Amino acid sequence: MEAKEISQAVVGRLPRYFRYLGELKDEGVERISSQELSELMKVTASQIRQDFNNFGGFGQQGYGYNVEFLYKEIGRILGLENKHNFIIIGAGNLGRALGNYMNFERRGFIFKGMFDKNPELIGSDVRGIKVMPMEEMERFVRENDIDIAILTIPKTSAVEVADRLVQNGIRAIWNFAHVDLNVPDGIQVENVHLSDSLMKLSYNINRYMKESNKD
Ligand code: NAI
Repeated sequence: MEAKEISQAVVGRLPRYFRYLGELKDEGVERISSQELSELMKVTASQIRQDFNNFGGFGQQGYGYNVEFLYKEIGRILGLENKHNFIIIGAGNLGRALGNYMNFERRGFIFKGMFDKNPELIGSDVRGIKVMPMEEMERFVRENDIDIAILTIPKTSAVEVADRLVQNGIRAIWNFAHVDLNVPDGIQVENVHLSDSLMKLSYNINRYMKESNKD
């Protein structure tokens, strides 16, 4: 069913479908048509059908999709039935905020360890996880089946730390440092730049103001 290569644009939309379907499921909704889902999510019904056709269409029969089935299938495609252990490198403001976010566990992402180079932070606690010194990072990654490292350190050290993680078997990096990482094929990197999202907002504010000034 998933033999063909799925575009990253489609993959990027799957979490949003998953989130909406999870909410519908929690509200007890059993079936939903692409038209209803389209109105709810403010995307076209044809976009939804096209996206779902990448995975065989999810068997829409009669009236709409089975919400529970669709939720489970999209979760499975996203690999969410597998648990992924993660560590956070950088126990500053951002690292701690992410470590304190409990919902990652609900999705199967398990917070296992936190590391920092600042001796004053070693031993401090984030949700029961003690901050460890960087010298322990490699061994910890090897011995605790760690899949994902979250990098919340300055860009000056992110490349070197990423190399050390890769050498010790990390499979993916969620990179908040403002630098592009050069990792071997097979290591997944997802860069997150919150300010990109803000700049998009700024663009849309400007566009809206220009449009409304025309009236
Ligand atoms: P922060 O200064 O509060 O925390 C950074 C932590 O990293 C400190 O505890 C520091 O001791 C530690 N650190 C520095 N070098 C290290 C190394 N080589 N190994 C291990 N630990 C090291 O900063 P904050 O606000 O938590 O931000 C962290 C980084 O993330 C910053 O570089 C910032 O530019 C970036 N950032 C990125 C965002 C994004 O959307 N991508 C949003 C906010 C911050």
